[in-house]
Amino acid sequence: MTYEFGKHESVLKTEIVENIKELLTTKENILGADLTFGGGGHVFSILEERENTKIIGFDQDPDAIATGKKKIEASPFSENIELIYSNFINFPDEFKKYKESHDVGGIDFVTIDLGVSSHQFDKAERGFSYREDGPLDMRMNYGDEEAITAADIVNTYDEEDLANVIYKYGEERLSRRIARNIVEKRKENPFRTTKELEEVVFLSYPPGQRHKKPHPATRTFQALRIEVNQELTVIEDLIPELFSLLNPGGIIQIISFHSLEDRIVKWSFKNAAKEDETLKILTKKPVLPTQDEILNNPRARSAKLRVIQKIK
Ligand SMILES: C[S@@+](CC[C@H](N)C(=O)[O-])C[C@H]1O[C@@H](n2cnc3c(N)ncnc32)[C@H](O)[C@@H]1O
Repeated sequence: MTYEFGKHESVLKTEIVENIKELLTTKENILGADLTFGGGGHVFSILEERENTKIIGFDQDPDAIATGKKKIEASPFSENIELIYSNFINFPDEFKKYKESHDVGGIDFVTIDLGVSSHQFDKAERGFSYREDGPLDMRMNYGDEEAITAADIVNTYDEEDLANVIYKYGEERLSRRIARNIVEKRKENPFRTTKELEEVVFLSYPPGQRHKKPHPATRTFQALRIEVNQELTVIEDLIPELFSLLNPGGIIQIISFHSLEDRIVKWSFKNAAKEDETLKILTKKPVLPTQDEILNNPRARSAKLRVIQKIK
């Protein structure tokens, strides 16, 4: 069973299209990839700009794929998009197969819009949010029965490992205290729901800091989500594999939503450009959303877009 993929307001949509506009308007047949299809907002905007474009879409969320397939069928672009249900770490292998079966050279653009979609946050059953009560899951790919859930982590990791995850991926100062309290609490009963965890984290904060923003559980929930989905590992491993797949003139654009991700994107681009003189970073500083965009979509406020091109 899948859930209808709810509304997701695409971030930096104008900029994503603008950055590849020259490519879209000067090359005859374009082949691109959007490795985080989500609600398809970026993909449809690109196709509206230039119909003669083929896009390979990836997503590891069964909801995004089920709803995406219906949306594609109902759109004028059913021939332009191939949607693949997979973790994007598999893109280089899938692209090799695609190249052989479609007789194409390389790829003209790759778009990645990291992190969680509004749908994943907003659907309590997915367990990403401390605001709603739901099962403590947080797997983007809940179709993978073998994958660990956030509940598995809080119920089985030893105290030190738990504290390290919360510190490293949540940059949470109180990680040790939170881990200690989690381990104490689970002796009574294993954690099952988001609200059970939220309460323990909330009470780990000193009373005077519990009602400040961001909510005390924000960092711990971010850390668990990153650990469950191995978010930093997959992006760090993927980026270096992408450069050799690009056609001359090809562009990679990546949107990140927190400093841990952005640091990986920034250094992966810098290191690649240092080693390969055909690669040029187009964003010395990352592109940020305008104030207007942030007003309309507060989720955009922490977005950073970095772009690199293989020059001809
Ligand atoms: C921020 S949303 C993308 C929204 C999309 N750009 C749009 O305009 O609608 C991120 C999507 O990427 C997917 N995703 C995140 N990490 C992934 C990975 N490693 N492999 C495949 N999909 C991933 C998530 O499931 C989610 O649907």
